[in-house]
Amino acid sequence: MAALVPVAFAIAAAPSQQAAQSTPPVSESESPKNLQVLSKDLTVRQVKEIMDDWTDALGVDCSTCHVRDMDHPLPNGRPGYDYAGDSKQEKRTARVMYAMTEEINARYVAAVPNSGIPVTCGTCHRGHLSPVPFNSAETKTPVNSSNTAQP
Ligand code: HEC
Ligand code: HEC
Repeated sequence: MAALVPVAFAIAAAPSQQAAQSTPPVSESESPKNLQVLSKDLTVRQVKEIMDDWTDALGVDCSTCHVRDMDHPLPNGRPGYDYAGDSKQEKRTARVMYAMTEEINARYVAAVPNSGIPVTCGTCHRGHLSPVPFNSAETKTPVNSSNTAQP
């Protein structure tokens, strides 16, 4: 019951905002400041959901693409991240990768009859920052152990 009170208060304080249904931390209700490839309509919370997917697909954490910064402290006083900053090459590469992935799906996968499996970051990266080269020999059982006739 007590949980309803802040919700009702938020609606009263910001009647025009649909986001007032939930009460995310202030930083999550802000709008992203520097989106160049993702839709500018996304909230910070929605962007973070996409970021969770990318992080899993590449087997990395946020610090691979975002720098820590004392100007954005966490509630515990430790440095947070300057998410809007573009100083890391990996972040700039991720923008190119996102545009490439969108293009692959829109132009090429969509042209496959009955296609239903979109390409994602994980299709290529499979949990690695640098995709591991495909080596067909590694997927086969070594000839010596399986094909040699036993006396
Ligand atoms: C592989 C690189 C990569 C990783 C890992 C990553 N991000 Fe991002 N992040 C980006 C890119 C690229 C953008 C900008 C997207 C654009 O330009 O539309 C971005 C933007 C953001 C933004 C919006 C910033 C703003 O105000 O414009 C937030 C918030 C964010 N990331 C949070 C996170 C969090 C939290 C994590 C860890 C769970 C994370 N990111 C992991 C690449 C990454
Ligand atoms: C079609 C396959 C493919 C897809 C899809 C793909 N990538 Fe990549 N990605 C690559 C290849 C190949 C490289 C280059 C690896 C190298 O040269 O070390 C790369 C490199 C990167 C790098 C730089 C790694 C480094 O070592 O600096 C980042 C960051 C990255 N990709 C993020 C993403 C993200 C985020 C997505 C999804 C939005 C994505 N990639 C989708 C194939 C792909």
